[in-house]
Amino acid sequence: MTLSIAIAILCIQATADPVPTYATAVAPIVAQACTECHRGGGIAPFSLESAADLTNRAAMVARVVGDGTMPPWFATADAVAAHRFRNDRSLSDADKSTLLAWLQSESRPIGDLSKAPPPRGAAPEWRVGKPDVVLELPHGVEIKPDGTMPYVNLRVPTGFTQDKWIRAWEVLPTARAQVHHVLVFAVPEGAKGPMAEAHGFFAAYVPGGGFRQYDATRAKKLPKGSDLLFQLHYTPNGKATIDRTRIGLVFADAPPEHEVHTAGIFDSQLDIAPNDASHREGIAMTAPADLRILSWMPHMHTRGKSFRAYREVDGVRETLLDIAHYDFNWQLSYDYATPIEVKRATTIGIEAVFDNSAANPVNPDPSKRVRWGQQTTDEMLIGYIEYELPNGGPTIGSGGMRARIRDRASQFAALDENANGAIERGEGGEVVRRAFDAADADHDDKITRAEFDAFMAQRNRAN
Ligand code: HEC
Repeated sequence: MTLSIAIAILCIQATADPVPTYATAVAPIVAQACTECHRGGGIAPFSLESAADLTNRAAMVARVVGDGTMPPWFATADAVAAHRFRNDRSLSDADKSTLLAWLQSESRPIGDLSKAPPPRGAAPEWRVGKPDVVLELPHGVEIKPDGTMPYVNLRVPTGFTQDKWIRAWEVLPTARAQVHHVLVFAVPEGAKGPMAEAHGFFAAYVPGGGFRQYDATRAKKLPKGSDLLFQLHYTPNGKATIDRTRIGLVFADAPPEHEVHTAGIFDSQLDIAPNDASHREGIAMTAPADLRILSWMPHMHTRGKSFRAYREVDGVRETLLDIAHYDFNWQLSYDYATPIEVKRATTIGIEAVFDNSAANPVNPDPSKRVRWGQQTTDEMLIGYIEYELPNGGPTIGSGGMRARIRDRASQFAALDENANGAIERGEGGEVVRRAFDAADADHDDKITRAEFDAFMAQRNRAN
């Protein structure tokens, strides 16, 4: 009896897979995976909050869900299985099938809408909730309609008279279409700017990102009297406009159990030959203390093809993050559900493949030899990590890097942050600050390439 019922049920399922209904099967999936962005005022170009929204674009939605371009999520499942990400928004195979079965059915049954998750409604201005403080650029920045723009560096005093613990932050450009990235550095009272890419940012906006919310046990420290240095990179897109980026900060009520730090593991020596379809680069560092890695955020430009982060234990590499298809437009942060414990002296590394061939549809110029540089037409390879120090000890600075020194040109390029051909005061961080006057032979407040070469040659002789 029981057996025959079971067989009967199996037969029904095999012969007539019921079409899922919108209200109870489809809407919950869309609510979980899509409407964070696809809603009124969201970052996506249209809403998917209703059944009609979906049916109006059924073919397009089926295509992007089928080929995996939506929802945006690029970590491969293998690495996810080993180390799950708490912000993983990818669709399971079962959810994909449900969505596609409904879209491709003729009847597209709606079901009882009172059982569907309520629409989220219009997106709030700040995704992190109402900030305690909003700081904005001292003035609007004029964005040219075309050409390239050097980095814009603007300093905003916080005026904080006490150290602040930041539980959440969000960087909000007003001219989002023209912003390549915004990095915000905390500059301690009295100090010049830090070396931009190397030392980790306080907050950042990149396409597809721009905000962080830590759990109740964690926060970032903003020392009293700090200035926020905004490094803004605009990519003109045909339309002149003005940007006035803001940052919103949410304070923690009390000092957290763990202080969150950010560091960039970077390979400034990269050198990519013209027309090379799979150029490999990699760099590793040694953990200066026991670390607990909370997240990774890979950064490359448009020739970036794939990215992998790993740790090496007893000579064996274990993948921590695997991005098989890197997409410059979606520089996401991958946040571990359980932070990764890394013992002091462990090797942590990143490796990446760049596609500098004509087959890469977003390659600006396959005939160019590509080095480290600030413009989208140059390249970078950085793995930013957020981490904490469970047992104290030094934070990751550039001293922890096992950099490969290849040539002067890329060393110089890494220090010339605004890529204008000279290292100015404030660029290049602490290392440059200490040596600036010695290297600036003609005392015009600029270290030219010739002055840099002469200084380095002399220093090498001295050592
Ligand atoms: C993190 C934000 C985000 C999420 C989550 C997201 N989208 Fe999108 N979606 C976008 C943005 C931004 C665009 C426009 C830019 C682009 O095409 O990359 C877009 C574009 C699209 C397009 C148009 C593609 C084209 O070729 O023009 C479709 C269809 C789409 N999304 C469907 C979905 C579906 C279905 C989901 C959920 C399963 C989803 N999206 C989840 C942000 C998101």
